[in-house]
Amino acid sequence: MTAAPQTILIVGASRGLGLGLVAEHLARGFDVIATVRKPEDEAGLKALPGAERLTLHQIDVTSDADIARLVAQLSAPLDIAFINAGVSGPKSVVSADADTLNQVMQANVFGPVRLAHALLGHVREQTGTLAFMSSIMGSIAENESGGMEVYRASKAAQNSLARSLWLTAARPFGITVLSIHPGWVRTDMGGSGADIDVATSVAGIADQLAANAGAQAHRFIDYTGREIAW
Ligand SMILES: NC(=O)c1ccc[n+]([C@@H]2O[C@H](COP(=O)([O-])OP(=O)(O)OC[C@H]3O[C@@H](n4cnc5c(N)ncnc54)[C@H](OP(=O)(O)O)[C@@H]3O)[C@@H](O)[C@H]2O)c1
Repeated sequence: MTAAPQTILIVGASRGLGLGLVAEHLARGFDVIATVRKPEDEAGLKALPGAERLTLHQIDVTSDADIARLVAQLSAPLDIAFINAGVSGPKSVVSADADTLNQVMQANVFGPVRLAHALLGHVREQTGTLAFMSSIMGSIAENESGGMEVYRASKAAQNSLARSLWLTAARPFGITVLSIHPGWVRTDMGGSGADIDVATSVAGIADQLAANAGAQAHRFIDYTGREIAW
């Protein structure tokens, strides 16, 4: 008997790493549920090989109404819920205005974590995984250069809330939580001078998702599986 395909939800899939994660998991035989913010971004996803196994939704992670609508539309249990959406934000905490600073925290921290809490009831108990796209820049221990300080703070705060979520809401159900650094990747955010391409990053991330299934832990790892210091 062939095993049923696994289901992964990927939030923030219009371009860059999110789009790459959809392509990679379709190629690996998953049923994929993907989200974008704008309907015009659906065409590229629908053109991917394996798109007959793809379902699309629209959500802005900073909208409580969008979160509620998405969660109400989900039916299949999720083997993996992957919250990839994120923004880089302003360089300096001093020169940015308060609204801009708040927007980064809504997009990288509060939106993703509130969405994660709302999704938990749909993630498979014991073997399921909730993954956040974090960044090595969220590591306080490995920050030796400063710079991108607002982005760093947002990913550190996301890591902190991911730990609290794991302890209080995921661990009791055996759900694994991963905070993943994708490498420095050539995307709109990473820029053309970054270390690796999207295909290399998402293949590594997919391998790590598979390797950590059922780990029932909260880990901060990169796309190669290297453990990152908090
Ligand atoms: N590239 C790197 O080197 C690198 C390194 C470490 C971590 N990361 C993290 O990896 C993730 C993806 O980055 P990327 O490099 O692929 O960046 P990207 O090309 O700029 O893509 C960002 C994605 O996030 C979506 N998004 C942004 N704000 C959103 C919101 N409020 N609601 C829903 N979706 C939203 C974007 O949708 P729209 O198209 O609608 O804007 C887009 O799909 C981010 O969390 C980023 O922090 C990237």
